[in-house]
Amino acid sequence: MDFKTKLQAARERVEDAIDRLMPPPEQRPRRLHAAMRYSMESGGKRLRPILLLAAAELGKSGSDPLPAAVAVECIHSYSLIHDDLPCMDDGDLRRGRPSCHRRFDEATAVLAGDALNTHAFFLLSRHYRDEPALGLELTGDLARAAGSEKLIGGQAEDIRAEKDGLSDPELLDYIHRNKTAALITAALTMGGRLSATGADQVERLAGIGTDLGVAYQIIDDVLDATGDTEVLGKTAGADVAADKTTSVQLRGVDASRKLARDHTRRAAESCRSLTGDPTFLVDLIRSLEHRIQ
Ligand code: IPE
Ligand code: IPE
Ligand code: MG
Ligand code: MG
Ligand code: MG
Repeated sequence: MDFKTKLQAARERVEDAIDRLMPPPEQRPRRLHAAMRYSMESGGKRLRPILLLAAAELGKSGSDPLPAAVAVECIHSYSLIHDDLPCMDDGDLRRGRPSCHRRFDEATAVLAGDALNTHAFFLLSRHYRDEPALGLELTGDLARAAGSEKLIGGQAEDIRAEKDGLSDPELLDYIHRNKTAALITAALTMGGRLSATGADQVERLAGIGTDLGVAYQIIDDVLDATGDTEVLGKTAGADVAADKTTSVQLRGVDASRKLARDHTRRAAESCRSLTGDPTFLVDLIRSLEHRIQ
């Protein structure tokens, strides 16, 4: 199977699992469940769950990686719903459609984000209860990545930098490593744990996740400055308009692209040390450097 076919197959597996593992739309409270599904179903590249599947595929453990993949996408989607709120980035457009609070209302968007955050951990507890040690490791990885010292910490510093007009390389690196690279790292380490290929493999995957995650956010910053709203599915130029602390603001487009390339190369090269066949993972990592959305 070539890379594109494999990527499409992985995306379909993830989307099918999302549909199966989200609360039914007819279940009360319907408006909340509709908002959760709206944000989970509305396109998106599905990078994090696909990374989890790619890492899980490096071994043959027999554990189903899909509930964990959906749990990671729940955390990601919740973070985007809250990121778009007027008190945060005030985004009107997400994945080519009105953002959750624009389509529903602010209260529903806050609650849908909260509920997705909780649902992620419910999925882990329910689907890995026959493998409690694995379930606890998955829970630990995800909780740590989503918590105040990682994803939320990165978001907090992102907002503080914007409000206080702060901009320096150390602060930017903190923001990128935490608001973005932490969850990408968790996707890879959770996949590693599901593959049962050992603690060293999990360590190596964590290193790859940091480089890949930083590259991914740098490219996200570049796309805000150079991309097209139609293609991005979110408003281009929003970072400049809000005077955000971004890689482009600090280094410019060319230096940002070069840095993203360096991190991408390092991530791809580190894959050589992994147990199992990392071809799909390497192709995926390389494809992200030149993405247009
Ligand atoms: C957007 O993430 C926010 C970042 C951390 C860069 P993605 O670019 O992965 O968003 P979707 O899931 O494809 O919509
Ligand atoms: C968002 O970063 C990161 C998280 C939601 C954790 P951005 O604010 O740059 O994401 P976009 O550009 O709105 O997708
Ligand atoms: Mg933001
Ligand atoms: Mg944003
Ligand atoms: Mg952005």
